[in-house]
Amino acid sequence: MNIRYALPALCVALLAFTPVDKKDDTQYWMKVRATDKFTRTQIANTGVVIDSVREDFVAAVGNAEEKAQLEAMGLVEVSFPLTAEMDFPAKDAAFHNYDEMTTKLRDLTTRHSGISRMQSIGKTVEGRDIWNVEISGNLAQAETLPAVVFMGGHHAREHLSVELPIYYIEYLLTEYANGNPRIKRLVDSRDIHIIPLVNADGAEYDISNGSYKAWRKNRANVGRGSYGVDLNRNYGFGWGGAGASTSPSSDTYRGPQAFSEPESIAIKNFIEQHENITILLSFHTFSELILYPWGHIYDSIAVARDKQVHETMAKKMATWNGYTPQQSSELYIASGDTTDWSYGEHKIISFTFELDPKDAWGTSGFYPGADVIPQVQQKNLEPILYLIEYSDNPYRVIDGDGPILKP
Ligand code: ARG
Ligand code: ZN
Repeated sequence: MNIRYALPALCVALLAFTPVDKKDDTQYWMKVRATDKFTRTQIANTGVVIDSVREDFVAAVGNAEEKAQLEAMGLVEVSFPLTAEMDFPAKDAAFHNYDEMTTKLRDLTTRHSGISRMQSIGKTVEGRDIWNVEISGNLAQAETLPAVVFMGGHHAREHLSVELPIYYIEYLLTEYANGNPRIKRLVDSRDIHIIPLVNADGAEYDISNGSYKAWRKNRANVGRGSYGVDLNRNYGFGWGGAGASTSPSSDTYRGPQAFSEPESIAIKNFIEQHENITILLSFHTFSELILYPWGHIYDSIAVARDKQVHETMAKKMATWNGYTPQQSSELYIASGDTTDWSYGEHKIISFTFELDPKDAWGTSGFYPGADVIPQVQQKNLEPILYLIEYSDNPYRVIDGDGPILKP
């Protein structure tokens, strides 16, 4: 259309679509107390959509009117508007929120269905699926192959720790499709598991209502108006020891018992169901460290060869990412973390990476900005490929064997 006609036409169209009454169409996400089907029916009768049903609450979405009705019934425990604000601030739009991540993982695994699958390993407190992407050139017999697991997002505000796993899924799948010979050999001979976001509820809460909240824990209702268990204090090896709080309001609250949380239970079940896993890496931020057990005691690993494998691998990986390799408790004692359990209980060679930046004022280190994402993904790529390579037998790193999968 000629511009002289287009402009007036556009103006007329805009006028026609300007709403006359300003009806509020904001949708609210709500955690609504309900312990039986009768209460749930009452809730449904207000018109809300019930997304998930848990033992003592439902997650529901409804408009302001429906929310007001539920509030009048005294049932609403948590609510927040599901607007465009339920997202990262504009400057950090490159980070994936939960829906964006889910869509991306689904797209990737659909496009590369011959070598990958996406499975829910359990649900969070608020009913979100915890996704695992499995990558292997031999999915039919994946359990017979050496396996490795990478995970991110135990702590809500550590959003960068989610971007690395997402990227490595994309990298492995697309490089395989591109015919990269090294990636093809790795993927064809291994069973690779990547769980980008363990604490989905916390991560979503951290970005709700347009500003970061520096939230760390999950979103369990722990009583007296407090929320959250520290998932990296809730694992069952050395649980209840030092460096974890017994107070529900604390940011390092260990929970009422080991594995009290659906998120840590999901990881526990997952690991128990995959006996072929020999190596585990859990991404956190920040400080630029490569950590290995123990974390709940100052003693180092008693089995000499196990200690040596952790030290050797950590040092090697440090040559690529420039991080500082050290035993966890060199930092401080903390009990109930993921890696003490995975090594202590299952003898899996286990690492925690504390990603960039090295140091920062206050909580700013958790929010380094979207600009750093690519460089942190790149500097940690070689360590990831190295762990995949040696998952057939991590002890090869001390027995002097070189990589056997190089093209
Ligand atoms: N920053 C992590 C956390 O506090 C690291 C924990 C590592 N373990 C340890 N025992 N220091 O959860
Ligand atoms: Zn952390």
